[in-house]
Amino acid sequence: MDDHGDVITAAREVVRRGRRITCFSGAGLSAPSGVGTFRDPGDGWWSRYDPMRLASPDGFHEDPALVMKWYAARRQQMAEAAPNAGHLALAARPDVVQVTQNTDDLLDRAGCSDIIRLHGNITADRCHAGCGHVESVDMHDPPGHRSCPGCGQAGLRPTVVWFGEALPSDAWERAEQAARSCDVFLVVGTSAVVYPAAGLITLAAHAGATVIVVNRDASSASDVADFELLGSADELLPALLEAD
Ligand code: APR
Repeated sequence: MDDHGDVITAAREVVRRGRRITCFSGAGLSAPSGVGTFRDPGDGWWSRYDPMRLASPDGFHEDPALVMKWYAARRQQMAEAAPNAGHLALAARPDVVQVTQNTDDLLDRAGCSDIIRLHGNITADRCHAGCGHVESVDMHDPPGHRSCPGCGQAGLRPTVVWFGEALPSDAWERAEQAARSCDVFLVVGTSAVVYPAAGLITLAAHAGATVIVVNRDASSASDVADFELLGSADELLPALLEAD
């Protein structure tokens, strides 16, 4: 067997013996479904566009129509995407706690429930002024910029976490607990550069978990990995998680 095969075999054994497994995922999990990542050279959103213009409160204040146009394009892309074999392999393991940075609904559509969402959910909009109005959006025919029908004071924006905004505290507390209390921490398809989310990896490692990284390329999680499986999430997750 080659070295890569040996690493997969060893990591599979760790997963098989794991009693509490937490999976921390990022955009690379949904990439094989055709959903764009952020930092991949060439086709990542942030290698083509300025994140502060499209995903920050200041950017929304400056040009809300541009922001909502970008979200409409992403929503359509996600609506056309289907869960891949990686999502399905995770959904087939309801014992694995899902912590994700992804805002798409592909884990849900694969059959996962009770997903801990650190960066919110792109399938709804809310009042940017915080009046409490929330509405789900048609992902196939997403809306553009419009005012909040609840208060009329601000525009509606996706229920996601932007740069400079706090993570939802309940999700963050549950994620920290899931990182601290697991014995196997899977890190799937994330560059691991966005904090505080990426801090979960060292938190889990320091608490004693075995860290298994699944990524197409080396990432900021490489140094912390006990096992690093290099390849596509839709191929590696079934190989890692499915029974013989
Ligand atoms: N299989 C596995 N990994 C992949 C694949 C694939 N098919 N394709 C790409 N990757 C990896 C890349 O090598 C990279 O390490 O997925 C990672 C994607 O990294 P980012 O684009 O930075 O996405 P993510 O880590 O989820 O970003 C974190 O940044 O802009 C914010 O809020 C946004 O939640 C997002 C956060």
